[in-house]
Formats: sequence, C-alpha cells, structure tokens
Amino acid sequence: MNVTQTRCPVHSIDHHSAEFAERRHDIFAELRRDAPIAMSDCYGGFYIAASYKLGRHILRDDEHFSVSRFEDGTGGLLIPAVMKSPKLRPGELDGAEHLAYRKALHDRFKPTTVKMLQPFVQRIVDETLDAVISKRQFDAMHDLAAVIPARVVLEYLGVPRDSQVSVLEGLALGFRAAPDTAEATDDTDQFRAVWRDLLEVIAEKRRSPGDDVMSTLVRSDLNLTDEQLLSVVMNVALGGTVTTTSWMSYAMMFLEQHRDLRARLIENPDDVAPFGEELLRWFSPASSLARNVIQDTEVGDVPLKQGDRVYVAITSLNRDDDVFEDAGTFDIDRERKQHMAFGVGAHFCLGVHLARLEFRIFIQSLLSRLPDYSIDVVRSEHNQSAGVTPRWLKLPASTNLGESP
Ligand code: HEM
Repeated sequence: MNVTQTRCPVHSIDHHSAEFAERRHDIFAELRRDAPIAMSDCYGGFYIAASYKLGRHILRDDEHFSVSRFEDGTGGLLIPAVMKSPKLRPGELDGAEHLAYRKALHDRFKPTTVKMLQPFVQRIVDETLDAVISKRQFDAMHDLAAVIPARVVLEYLGVPRDSQVSVLEGLALGFRAAPDTAEATDDTDQFRAVWRDLLEVIAEKRRSPGDDVMSTLVRSDLNLTDEQLLSVVMNVALGGTVTTTSWMSYAMMFLEQHRDLRARLIENPDDVAPFGEELLRWFSPASSLARNVIQDTEVGDVPLKQGDRVYVAITSLNRDDDVFEDAGTFDIDRERKQHMAFGVGAHFCLGVHLARLEFRIFIQSLLSRLPDYSIDVVRSEHNQSAGVTPRWLKLPASTNLGESP
C-alpha cells in the first residue's frame, strides 16, 4: 500500500495490542477530533475511519469499497487478513452474489420468523440456567454467555448435538490467536479440521433434509456446492456466537458493577431491551469492520487508492459526540439513534433479530431466577485484543439461590 501520498497523519496504531485495548477510547477521541481519516503503518499500512459520518459512508458505499477476500487470500473482514481460513459467505461477498445468499437466508432470519423462535430460545436459556443454579459456583462466561448463543445458533443451523463441541472449539480457535503467530497458523489448520467434520453433516442433510437452516440452504435454488454451503454455516455460526456471547458477558459484568441498574431491570424487565442497545453502543462487540478500496475515491478530503485497506472503527463511530450526545456517558434513557454495532448497508447483521431475542430472554431470565448473582471482578479475565472483538474470558460467579451442595 502506498503510504507516502496521503494527506492524513500516520500513526502506529496496532488494534491487536494490549496498549490499544487499554487506551482505545482516548485514541479514537483524538482521531475524531484531529483526523477522522488517519493512517496506521502497522500490518502493511491501513486507513482508519474514526467518525460516525465517514465510517457510515464507507460501509454504505459499495461502489468504491468491498469486503471481498481476493484469490490470494488478502482483503476480507479482518486486518491483517486471515490468509488461510475459508472465505465467509455472505460476509465476504459483494454485489449480486452477496444479494443472492442474503435472499436465500432471509426467511429464516426475518422478524416474524425469529419471533416464533421465542419458545426454542427460552428452552435453551432455561436448561442452561438450571445447570448453573444447581452448582451455585460457576463461570458466567463459560457456563452461560458462551453456551446459550452457541446452542441456539448451532441447533437452528441443524448441527447435531454430538458435533457441536468440535464446531465450537474450531470457532473459538479461529478467534483466539494474535495474527502472524505460530499459534494462529496452527489454529487455522484446526479450523480446517472442523470444516471437514461439517462436510459430513452436510452430506447427511443432502440425504435427508430437515427443518433447519442448513436444510433450507440444501433445498435453495442457489445449488450450493458443499464448500459454499459450509462457508455459510461457518459465517452464521461465527457471527452468531462470538459477538452475542460477548454482549451477554458484558451485560453480566455491567450489572455486577451497577447494582442500581440491576435493581431497575429486575423491577422493569421491559428496560432490558434499551439497556442492551446502550450496551452495544457503549462497547461495540464487533469493534471494527475492514474494507478494500476497489476504485479510487476521496473520503474526508483524503484520497484513497484502489488496493488500500480501511479499518472502520465501529467502537469510535458509536462514541461520536456529533451523533450521540455526551457519548462517553452510559445512559439507557438516551434518545434512540442508530448505533453501528450491527453495521449498516448491504452487510447489516443478518442475525440482528435473533441476537436481540436471545439477549432479552437471557437477561430477563437471569434476573428473575438468579437476581443475587455476583461476579468476582478481581479474578475475572478479559481478552487483550480489543480491536476486533472485546470479550471477557473468565467471569467467576456465584449465587446463594441454588440447592445446598
Ligand atoms: C450482539 C450480536 C451481534 C453483533 C454485534 C453483530 C454484528 C455484526 C456486524 C457489525 C455485521 C456487519 C459486517 C460487515 O458489515 O462487514 C454483521 C454481519 C453478520 N452477522 Fe452479525 N452480529 C451479531 C449477532 C449475529 C447473530 C446472532 C447472527 C446469526 C445467527 C449473525 C450473523 C451475521 C452474518 C451471517 C453476517 C454477514 C451478513 C452479510 O455480510 O450480509 N450475527 N454482524
């Protein structure tokens, strides 16, 4: 990438570093003030869009920006590109091809369909809470936040119970490692092993389709190859687990540290929805989205050349004072404006309605059944790389409401 011709300031911002995780809100506040389009010289050089206005513009401008992964493995949703992992569909497709996949999936994720999933989601939430209550000591991340979205999405997709654990391990590996490390390389190989396991599941769906998303795809007139179908499964499974798990774990920690808000939500369960939306704005589980410049253009007076990479900093867009009054303050009663946590434009989150349903049912059920839960904040652990998905790794927790051990 040509970093010399630019009119914007160059910084060494490494969004995978611990320092960035620590200081990201300050870094972005400076960028929004001084350079809404800046440049980082890390990972071969990339532009950073920090303001709501410019970030939103880029995500909606399909003529100049693409999310595609190229044949050589570059491009795609992440910086640096995950060269070896398979291309995600629909997430890393553009144009008409992207639209065809969205149409094939639409009926399974539209609001009226998702509304009917309420009993299914409630059952999974109840079973998961049952297991925790009987233990009294538990890990709110591993035993709750990581379990519910995974079971919901994998069962909805049609992944059999005995394959779910290996699929989840594969997904977790894909997101665990820092880029450019030996660990990341090994992980990608393991990711491919999961891919192979899933091919067997697909073969079974082709033999006897059922009432699940994979079977819908098998029947669709897209005539997908196994490889294409699996890349959809991985995209939906990835999109549906990491972010939703992160959202739920942040909610539990937030309600640990803000007991007055917890009391309010227990008293008024309808306030769980605005709480969830404000939390999304506040911490942005999908904290960045990368794009490739496919045609020369100019954004915020900065010329961008074909082949350049852009990091749209969702975290920063969601804290932009030009859009959200007093954006640094957490306020569930604030005037509702479209936050960018689910993206915008053609790639707007496919699973938005399902994510909201899961979150609402989970938090309402948690506060109804375990209103006293407490988290050991000191022993809790957070991931180091907040540039893609900030998330809690460990949340040691307890309740006094279960049966005596
Ligand atoms: C808190 C929860 C979630 C957040 C914050 C989130 C965030 C996002 C964002 C920001 C995008 C846009 C990506 C882009 O523009 O490149 C996206 C796309 C997507 N999400 Fe979600 N998501 C969540 C939950 C889910 C769930 C529950 C599912 C599925 C069950 C899902 C499936 C997808 C898929 C398949 C895409 C790709 C859509 C496309 O490219 O057309 N997401 N998500």
